Amino acid sequence: MGPRVLFVCLGNICRSPAAEAVVRAQAEARGLAIRLDSAGTSGWHEGEAPYPPMIAAAARRGYDMTQLRARRFRPEDFANFDLIVVMDHANRQAVDDLRPPNSPTPVRLFMDYAPRVAADEVPDPYYTRDFDGALDLIETAADGLLRALAAQP
Ligand code: 4NP
Repeated sequence: MGPRVLFVCLGNICRSPAAEAVVRAQAEARGLAIRLDSAGTSGWHEGEAPYPPMIAAAARRGYDMTQLRARRFRPEDFANFDLIVVMDHANRQAVDDLRPPNSPTPVRLFMDYAPRVAADEVPDPYYTRDFDGALDLIETAADGLLRALAAQP
């Protein structure tokens, strides 16, 4: 069935659902089987659809985010996914704080998959208001992530 990848940000209404939608579209275009979900380290927007300006910016590029709903990251996600991909260092800290003892599931920064881009985090567009800038980073990192997954045995 392919690897299971979970994207994590703070609210699960901007960056991680956008990453989920972009990677899903790119994977389908390449015929790659991959299971995707996203979650937030906060539960502030649990059950909500993504942030409307994020949905709109993604829709202008052909990505449909309307069916996604926010949920909170939980310790069981370490067992339910093969790879956890976070948007910034604070996300990584919050996720690692919930790691069950001896869980081997890797946690990686999304921008690590875009080594030629001089950014190690996806800045939060909820605060920067730069939804297109976030999508530019997400599209580049999505390509690198899928190349890395496709190269794995
Ligand atoms: P996200 O952005 O982590 O990319 O989903 C945020 C969305 C909402 C809030 C913070 C970040 N908030 O404070 O409600």
